[in-house]
Amino acid sequence: MILLYLTLSCLISWTLAAQRSPHHPRADAAYSPPYYPAPNGGWLSEWTSAYEKAQKIVGNMTLAEKVNLTTGTGEFMGPCAGQTGSALRFGIPNLCLHDSPLGIRNSDHNTAFPAGVTVGATFDKDLMYERGVGLGEEARGKGVNVLLGPVVGPTFRKPRGGRGWEGFGADPSLQAIGGAQTIKGMQSTGAISCLKHFIGNEQEMHRETSVLGPGYSSNIDDRTLHEIYLWPFAEGVRAGTGSVMMAYNDVNRSACSQNSLLINGILKDELGFQGFVMTDWLAQMGGVSSALAGLDMAMPGDGLIPLLGDSYWGSELSRSILNGTVPLERLNDMVTRIVATWYQMGQDEDYPLPNFSSNTLDETGPLYPGALISPTGVVNQYVNVEGTHNITANAIARDAITLLKNDNNTLPLSKNASLHVFGTDAGANSDGLNSCSDQGCDNGVLTMGWGSGTSRLPYLVTPQEAIANVTPTATFHISDTFPSGLTPNASSIALVFINADSGENYITVENNPGDRTTTDLYAWHNGDELVEAAAAVFSRVVVIIHTVGPIILENWIDLDPVKAVLIAHLPGQEAGYSLTDILYGDYSPSGHLPYTIPFNESNYPASVSLLNQPFGQIQDDFTEGIYIDYRHFLNANITPRYPFGHGLSYTTFSISDPVLTTVTPLDSAYSPSRTAKGSTPSYPTTIPDPDEVAWPDNFNRIWRYLYPYLDDPDSIVSNSTNSSAAYPYPDGYTTTAHPAPRAGGGQGGNPALFDVAFTLSVLVTNTGSRSGRAVAQLYVELPDTIDADVPSRQLRDFGKTGTLQPGGSETVVLNVTRKDLSVWDVGVQDWRTVVDGEGVGLWVGESLGSLGERDVRAIFGRGWGL
Ligand code: NOJ
Repeated sequence: MILLYLTLSCLISWTLAAQRSPHHPRADAAYSPPYYPAPNGGWLSEWTSAYEKAQKIVGNMTLAEKVNLTTGTGEFMGPCAGQTGSALRFGIPNLCLHDSPLGIRNSDHNTAFPAGVTVGATFDKDLMYERGVGLGEEARGKGVNVLLGPVVGPTFRKPRGGRGWEGFGADPSLQAIGGAQTIKGMQSTGAISCLKHFIGNEQEMHRETSVLGPGYSSNIDDRTLHEIYLWPFAEGVRAGTGSVMMAYNDVNRSACSQNSLLINGILKDELGFQGFVMTDWLAQMGGVSSALAGLDMAMPGDGLIPLLGDSYWGSELSRSILNGTVPLERLNDMVTRIVATWYQMGQDEDYPLPNFSSNTLDETGPLYPGALISPTGVVNQYVNVEGTHNITANAIARDAITLLKNDNNTLPLSKNASLHVFGTDAGANSDGLNSCSDQGCDNGVLTMGWGSGTSRLPYLVTPQEAIANVTPTATFHISDTFPSGLTPNASSIALVFINADSGENYITVENNPGDRTTTDLYAWHNGDELVEAAAAVFSRVVVIIHTVGPIILENWIDLDPVKAVLIAHLPGQEAGYSLTDILYGDYSPSGHLPYTIPFNESNYPASVSLLNQPFGQIQDDFTEGIYIDYRHFLNANITPRYPFGHGLSYTTFSISDPVLTTVTPLDSAYSPSRTAKGSTPSYPTTIPDPDEVAWPDNFNRIWRYLYPYLDDPDSIVSNSTNSSAAYPYPDGYTTTAHPAPRAGGGQGGNPALFDVAFTLSVLVTNTGSRSGRAVAQLYVELPDTIDADVPSRQLRDFGKTGTLQPGGSETVVLNVTRKDLSVWDVGVQDWRTVVDGEGVGLWVGESLGSLGERDVRAIFGRGWGL
C-alpha cells in the first residue's frame, strides 16, 4: 500500500507513536460544575427567520399551549414512540417523535437501511448523505416530525457495548462526518433529526436510573470529552440538527437530562445549539431541575414510572410557572426553540400527520393504547414510503463490505465454483421475518442489532437466496453444526457464515443484556468451531461475518485453508445481493474497518471493560482518556490483528502527486475572537393568568394522558409570597448570564475552528487489473510543540473515488481545519493549534496500517508500525 507524508514546515521532529510518554488525563473526583442560566436560542443568523416566525406565535400562546409542546402525552399515548401535545390554534399538531436511525421502527412498507456501523465502513460521504435523504423521506412519508437519529454516541469506547453499531465507528471524525452527512440529508426533506445520545452512554447495563437504582456515572475529563465524545456532536450541531437527545447515564455524577454544564454550558453556549433538547425515554429526573438545566422537551412525558398519568412536567410545569419557580423566560425559550425548529425545517407547510401506528400492525385499533379504555379508529394506512431507497441501501451494504484477507486471490469466485455454504447466518430467520420484536433474537442472517435502533424488514434477500440465484451448484447447510461425513471434492470451496450480535438493554438475547456479556468478543452460536470444522475438511474456506463491532478471529484466521475473510457488517434488508455482488466480482470490495480488530480482548485498556455491580452507583472512570480504539493501540504500541481503516480490494491503488494548499493561514494558536451573540426573542415576563391552564369546559379526558391542566390553578400562590414553599434552587443557580464562551460563536463552536487551514489533493490511481473504488484516509500527526499528549495519528478526513477502471485515476481533495490540528486547552477553555501548522504531519493512505514509513515527499508503506 502506498502512503504519503507531507510536512507543513521545514522542521520535522520525528517521534514514533510508541515513544510518546503515556500520560492520561485523570478523571478527577467526578463533579459536574453548575452552569446557569439556560441560554436562550435565536442568536444565530442561520435561524433568524425561523425564530422570528416562532416569536410571533409563541407570544400569543396560552400557558397550556406552551406546556403542551414541551411535554409528551405519555408512553403509548399515540402512534409514535413519543408525541408532544399540540397548539392547534397555530397549526401545530401533536409532534411525532419516532425511531430509528436506520428506518421507521415498528412500521410497514419502510426501508430497513444498513446500520450506522455499516455506513461508517463505506467511508463514502455521498452514501452517508443519500441514506439520510432516504430516512428523511420515509419519516416525512409516515408523518414522523422528529426522526430519532443519527447516533454518534456510543462511540465503541467499550467494544462489548451493546449499541456501538448504531453509530458510525470508533473515531470521532468518522462519527462526525457520518452524523453530519446524515443530518443534512434527513433535514433536506423537512424531517427534524435528533442527534443522540448526549453523552457518555458507552455501555447498556445499568444505563438508566430507575426504582431499582441509579444509572452509572460516566466520569469524563474535560479534554477527553471535547476531543473524543463531544467532537461528533459539535459537527452535528454545525450541520444544523434540529434536536439533541440527552443520554440516560450521569456524566460526572450529574444526570445528563439535568446536567446544566452539558446542556446550558456546552451544548447551548459553547456549541451554539439553536434547536431543542429532549430526554431519552423516561430519563427525566426532576421537573424544575431539568428545566433550569436547559431541557426543552420531556419524552415520552411520564415521570420515572410510566403509565401512571404522572409527569415531572405537563401540569406540574404549569404549576411551577404559576408559582414562579421556573422563570417564564425559560418556558418561553423551550417553546420558541421547538417552534423555531418546526419552522426551520418547513414543517408548517404541508407536513403529513402520522399515518401509521408503532403499537400495532392492524388497520384499526386504540388511539391511546396506554389508556386501557381508549377511543379506536384507523391507525395504520400502510403508506409505502420505500421509493427507490433499496438502491441506496444495496449500495451501502455492498460498498461497506470489508475484505480482511484474500490469499491466492481466492475471491472473487467463479460462477461455476463448487460451493458448500455453512451457517444459519446465511439463511432466513427460521421463525419468520420480523418474528422477534425489535429484532431481539439472533436467528438467520444478522441484518441489524436489536432494540429501538431497528426497523422491521419489508423483505429480506438472504445470502442463501442470492447465492442460489447466481449459481445453481451451491449446496447449503443452514445449520451451525458442521455436517458429519461430508467429503467435498478437492476443488470445492466452503463459505462459512458467522455472526456476533448485541443491542439495547431492555431485551436480553441469549444471556446478553444488550452488551456482549456472555459471548465475549467471539462469534455467536459456536461460529469459530464451524469455521474450524470447515477448515479441517476443505482446502479453501471463505468466512463471511455479520457483526455489530470488533470480533476476535484468532481461533482460525491463520489456519491454512482459511483463504479469505469478509466483514459484511449489518447490511439491513439488502444482505443477499450486496454480498453476491462482491463474492462474484461484479464489484470489488471497498469497505474499510470503522474500528480496530485486536488479537485479544486484553489488548484494550482495562478501563473499557463492562462494569456490573448490584448496588450503588457505578463510577465508570474514563481513565484511558483520549486513548480509545486505535489511539490506544498506537499509544501502547500494540499491533492489532487488523488496524482501523483496513480493507483490501480485488485491485490495487497508488496514491501520488500530493498538492498541499494553504487556505486559511493558522497565524495564531487560538481562533480569532468570536463575535458577540445576536439578540434573542423576548416576551413579557408577567406570570400568566391561571385560567390559561384550567380544564376546558366539557373536556373529554383520556385516562393517564398527560395534560397541561390543573384542577384549581387559581389557588396557586407565588413562591415569593410563600417562603415555606420556596424551591431549593441548585447550588450555583443564578439568573446572571455567563460571559459567552470564547470557543463558541457559531453552530458547533467558533466558526474559525472550521476554517479549512489546508487542502491536500492526491491522485488515486488504479494500478491493478480489475475495476474498484479506493478510499484515501487522511491522518494528522501533531508535533511535540502542541505541548500536550496526543495520539500519533488521528483520522481527520477521507474521500472515496468513484469506480476506477484499471489504469484510471481520480483526484481526491482532503480538508484539514484549524480544529483538526488542535487540542482542547482545559485551562483556557479553547482549542489551541500550532501556529502555521509548523511540524504537523499529514498522512494519507488506504488505512491506518498503511502509514508505515515516510519521507518528505512520498513513500511506500509496508504495514503496521514500521
Ligand atoms: C430509548 C433509546 O435509548 C433511544 O435511543 C430511543 O430513541 C428511545 N428509547 C425511544 O424509543
